[in-house]
Amino acid sequence: MKISFVSAVLPKTGVLILLVAEGKGLEGLAAEADHRTGGQVTRAMAAAKFTGKRDTTLDLVAPGGGFTRIVLFGLGAPAALRPLDLEMLGGAAAGVIQALKADRAAIAAGLDLGGLAAKEASALIASGVRLRVYSFNRYKSKKPEAVPLNEVSILTADARGARQRFIGFDAVADGVHLARDLVNEPPNHLHPVEFADRMRPLAKLGVKISIMTPAQMKRLGMNALLGVAQGSAHEARMVVMEWKGGKAGERPLAFIGKGVTFDTGGISIKPAQGMEDMKGDMGGAACVAGLMMALAKRKAKVNAVGAIGLVENMPDGKAQRPGDVVTSMSGQTIAVLNTDAEGRLVLADVLWYMQDRFKPRFMVDLATLTGAILVALGKEHAGLFSNNDELAQRLSEAGYATGEKVWRMPLAPEYDKIIDHDVADVKNIGGRNAGSITAAQFLQRFVNGVPWAHLDVAGTAMDTGRSAINQSWGSGWGVRLLDRLVAQHYEK
Ligand code: BES
Ligand code: MN
Ligand code: ZN
Repeated sequence: MKISFVSAVLPKTGVLILLVAEGKGLEGLAAEADHRTGGQVTRAMAAAKFTGKRDTTLDLVAPGGGFTRIVLFGLGAPAALRPLDLEMLGGAAAGVIQALKADRAAIAAGLDLGGLAAKEASALIASGVRLRVYSFNRYKSKKPEAVPLNEVSILTADARGARQRFIGFDAVADGVHLARDLVNEPPNHLHPVEFADRMRPLAKLGVKISIMTPAQMKRLGMNALLGVAQGSAHEARMVVMEWKGGKAGERPLAFIGKGVTFDTGGISIKPAQGMEDMKGDMGGAACVAGLMMALAKRKAKVNAVGAIGLVENMPDGKAQRPGDVVTSMSGQTIAVLNTDAEGRLVLADVLWYMQDRFKPRFMVDLATLTGAILVALGKEHAGLFSNNDELAQRLSEAGYATGEKVWRMPLAPEYDKIIDHDVADVKNIGGRNAGSITAAQFLQRFVNGVPWAHLDVAGTAMDTGRSAINQSWGSGWGVRLLDRLVAQHYEK
């Protein structure tokens, strides 16, 4: 699908989406369209008692004036819309266009939308369209869309400006789509080696890709990560992705993702019910991949490094046992009391490696880490844990702005004590209570005091239900959040 920005002139024919303010007369292009249809728009509004109330629509079939369809979107008070509302509006409009099976359509982005410049408002609407129009058809033998949506034009007072502004949004949408693709992939196809190979093309965007094999990780002492992988027929990988868009020598921002391409639980095996969802246990890694793509495509003026720990957690004669003690790269020993608490083992080594190798300004990790975070927060917020109030605050704000919301949970020495072990330094489970917190406490032992935030995305990375801007099982959650964090605070 192509998105184009054209100057605010009505098309001669086709599907037209008009935005209508509540309780005001039709303005601009909407007034023009009404005129062209001989007053059909105002007549339909009166007959349907359509007032332009927020989140209402009115669909006019064959309204005349050459149009096949005019769909009115009520906005309430346009100036009160937030940027996210404009993205949602674009997504909702795209949904209507798809439902109409139109191959092209125009959205008239007039009015004072959110009090923003025309280029900004138009680019936001276009961003929503791109986020919405996503499908994962790779494994369908027949392509389901008979009429693909070829082009959406945004009619705007500043087409040139909008085109320029949209470049960044387009890059981020590409990153979101990459993350969704990776999460949606079946686990027989997307095993750790395949996931790593799929990162190689990012090199074309200027991202330096290093792929670590088990032998290399062994030399680094990453036995916590390797222990999880040892029951799998697929080798583990760690991928490090460096984007250097900032000043030479400036310390990078670090993003770390849990990439368990399938989590059976290992010897502490999971129940059969719903286990198929554990193909999404690499949602954190998918987000880091998508973020690195977004930063590179929009040439972000920042140094950032992403790292993903890729393993498959399987039961096997060679699998690790409950009770095993492994020595992590940090030197700390870990008693593996439950092989299903594997994500923290993977992250322990990747976090340690990252702070050691890159001396980053901060580390943010994303992990589908605990079922307990779903119990606490459902699918509306990801859990946020941090040793740094400024970073936590910035993430919270970026969450509200993007709709990828986070809710801060506590860390405290009292919780940390729970994971002390009698034989090893630490154990990988803390019992039923405070399960997401003890998991975060575990990770904190491997960040070496670096400013750090952990996002538990078990509830948000997949199966979040559909929204105006996401219809996919794999949500791509976190790409927009972290891109926003970077853009707002770390680019000069
Ligand atoms: N990948 C799971 C967590 C998860 C659950 C992600 C539901 C997405 C949806 C993780 O590896 C896990 O199994 N965690 C255990 C930890 C427990 C053994 C301490 C859990 O949450 O039950
Ligand atoms: Mn698990
Ligand atoms: Zn897991």
